[in-house]
Amino acid sequence: MNIIKVERAGEPAANPSDSQLLTIDGLEVDYPIPGRRKPFRAVDRISLHVGIGETLGVVGESGSGKTSVGRAVLGLAPVSGGRVTFDGRDISHLSRRARRGLSKDIQVIFQDPYTSLNPLMAVGDILTEPLAAVGGMNASKARTRVADLLEMVGLPRGADRRFPRDFSGGQRQRIAIARALALDPRLIVCDEPVSALDLTTQERILALLIELQERTRVAYLFVSHDLDVVRVISHRTVVMSEGRIIEAGATDSLMQDPQHPSTQKLIMSNPVLDPDEQRERRRRRALLSSPATT
Ligand SMILES: Nc1ncnc2c1ncn2[C@@H]1O[C@H](COP(=O)(O)OP(=O)(O)OP(=O)(O)O)[C@@H](O)[C@H]1O
Ligand SMILES: [Mg+2]
Repeated sequence: MNIIKVERAGEPAANPSDSQLLTIDGLEVDYPIPGRRKPFRAVDRISLHVGIGETLGVVGESGSGKTSVGRAVLGLAPVSGGRVTFDGRDISHLSRRARRGLSKDIQVIFQDPYTSLNPLMAVGDILTEPLAAVGGMNASKARTRVADLLEMVGLPRGADRRFPRDFSGGQRQRIAIARALALDPRLIVCDEPVSALDLTTQERILALLIELQERTRVAYLFVSHDLDVVRVISHRTVVMSEGRIIEAGATDSLMQDPQHPSTQKLIMSNPVLDPDEQRERRRRRALLSSPATT
């Protein structure tokens, strides 16, 4: 029994193999450790790709390097080795200026809707900030765009004059989604975007993300520790452990028939509401962790 009841209707907009948008080749992310010569390797030679209009789920236990992959794509974590290519262009080591230019195409939604929005800015200003950053939009066009964005994410028109504190967590995440969509990006890195929300709100936000993808063909690199969430939103999924990809495939087959013991454990450690299934999973998990089967 799935906890989240949202269904994705369609497949990605095009065949990913002939429409790759983001390609990661042998990516390494090293973080310096103060006082030590050798850095800590958080991401260790991983390769993946995301097609136009596709959602790639990145799952794995805490500390496996999921966020570091997303941050490397955004230029927020160091690319110590390998390459990140967006739409055929190497974006592994861009200048700040070039990175700013790329913000039109690549956007982000973070986990915490309470800290990711500037509390001092009215929602209308939060949404026009990205528009102003790339220039070329006058005040009246920007106002129309804000109204369109609010409608797209299901917020009332008057929301632009209010402040983040006036909204619930789910509504704030809608604002963050609207901000990410403002420039019509082609890729959004979503890092645990529904993890801070209650179940019903999770379902609504996931349904919104799916609907927006179907409308705009935006691709998502969707990082989450929650397999139920990834199950509903991702066309394909990669599983990370200790900085590496240990398994990858179409989400449905990966969830139904996981090959790697760590993936099996991850799937079984996801909470389920049905007590019978919970018992069965516990039994199978116990079998998995016994030395004979690992
Ligand atoms: N800025 C940093 N400096 C040093 N080490 C870091 C930094 N960011 C992350 N790490 C380390 O890199 C590893 C991977 O972290 P990352 O945040 O990518 O994992 P994650 O899979 O997103 O985990 P979670 O599910 O808890 O969010 C962890 O061991 C973490 O402590
Ligand atoms: Mg993380």
